[in-house]
Amino acid sequence: MPLIDSYQRPIEYLRLSVTDRCDLRCQYCLPKGFKDFQEPAEWLTFEEIERIIRAFSELGTHRVRITGGEPLVRHGLPELISRLAALPMLDDLSLSTNATRLEKLAQPLADAGISRINVSLDTLRAERYKAITGGKIEKTLAGLMAAKVAGLQPVKINMVVMKDTNEDEVEDMVEFCLAHDFTLRFIETMPMGEPGLIAQQQFVDLQVIKKRLAQRYSLIPSTMPGGGPARYMRVAGTDLRIGFITPMSQHFCETCNRVRLSVDGTLHLCLGQNDEYPLRGLLRSGISDNQLKAHIQDAISQKPERHHFNENPQQVVRFMSMTGG
Ligand code: GTP
Ligand code: 5AD
Ligand code: SF4
Repeated sequence: MPLIDSYQRPIEYLRLSVTDRCDLRCQYCLPKGFKDFQEPAEWLTFEEIERIIRAFSELGTHRVRITGGEPLVRHGLPELISRLAALPMLDDLSLSTNATRLEKLAQPLADAGISRINVSLDTLRAERYKAITGGKIEKTLAGLMAAKVAGLQPVKINMVVMKDTNEDEVEDMVEFCLAHDFTLRFIETMPMGEPGLIAQQQFVDLQVIKKRLAQRYSLIPSTMPGGGPARYMRVAGTDLRIGFITPMSQHFCETCNRVRLSVDGTLHLCLGQNDEYPLRGLLRSGISDNQLKAHIQDAISQKPERHHFNENPQQVVRFMSMTGG
């Protein structure tokens, strides 16, 4: 039986969070001063992760994206990736990162079996980067260049567009991605937990950004390898693809293909809902692989139809770093 939810959507993409910790503090993602992270005893071990991913892959989930928090703060990540890359039913193993630790890790990650990465970068200006994330932009830029050298392809840049913060840098980012052969994606802020609610005050409708860009560039509808919700345009005369991720102005829930597994072994069935299905206790109580698969099917049958970010922005209490987007 393939994994199909009760709205007839095939679930072929799992977002695997390997830690809820992060070395940055993006204002829209983590509450200020937050320290209440999961303890190591609550983390799934690499063996447990591999077992769950194997079960998913045998049920038809062929894509896995590794997320955090910031996934590269989890020790030994290349070892986990090698194990996942060896699973015969997986054919797309990717990573979303802030790239601060990528300078050293790009090559080991590529060697272990990561084929493509998405990198968060909201600004190209050092002082703004510091204000948005609390970190140093030099490390992220060095990480991006190391990704190129390691042959990770494509590299997609994720820019959350925010009013009075980085909205004026959209064109600069296009030029940067053209120069470096990166793919660019713009993202609308989502109201996830308290930091997301604050970020909604900086919300920018990407339909407006698209019109603005169309005055300067000739944009042609396009596609891009990947399984996510971005809708792409190509800049005519170049290879640059620009993706628009519009959960607020034009949501994409009818074609949703994913669930999320957090570091404590909880399946989060929708980014925009609180519905969850804990697997860790079941695993540790000694269930069989077939029982695990039956639980996964049960969980998927409970996946909600869509988010209610617009109608009820206070609904999701979890913040973004707990599931890594
Ligand atoms: P590929 O298309 O496979 O490259 O990946 P992706 O775009 O799905 O992954 P990424 O981690 O780069 O996510 C980019 C942005 O899209 C993040 O802000 C995510 O929160 C958002 N996003 C990803 N999946 C969903 C989803 O199911 N629902 C909503 N509302 N947003 C999502
Ligand atoms: N709204 C939209 N995107 C967010 N991200 C983190 N928090 C939010 C939010 N509240 C993005 C990050 C990263 C991706 C995985 O999720 O910038 O690029
Ligand atoms: Fe899927 Fe929920 Fe995201 Fe909509 S908000 S695309 S249903 S995970």
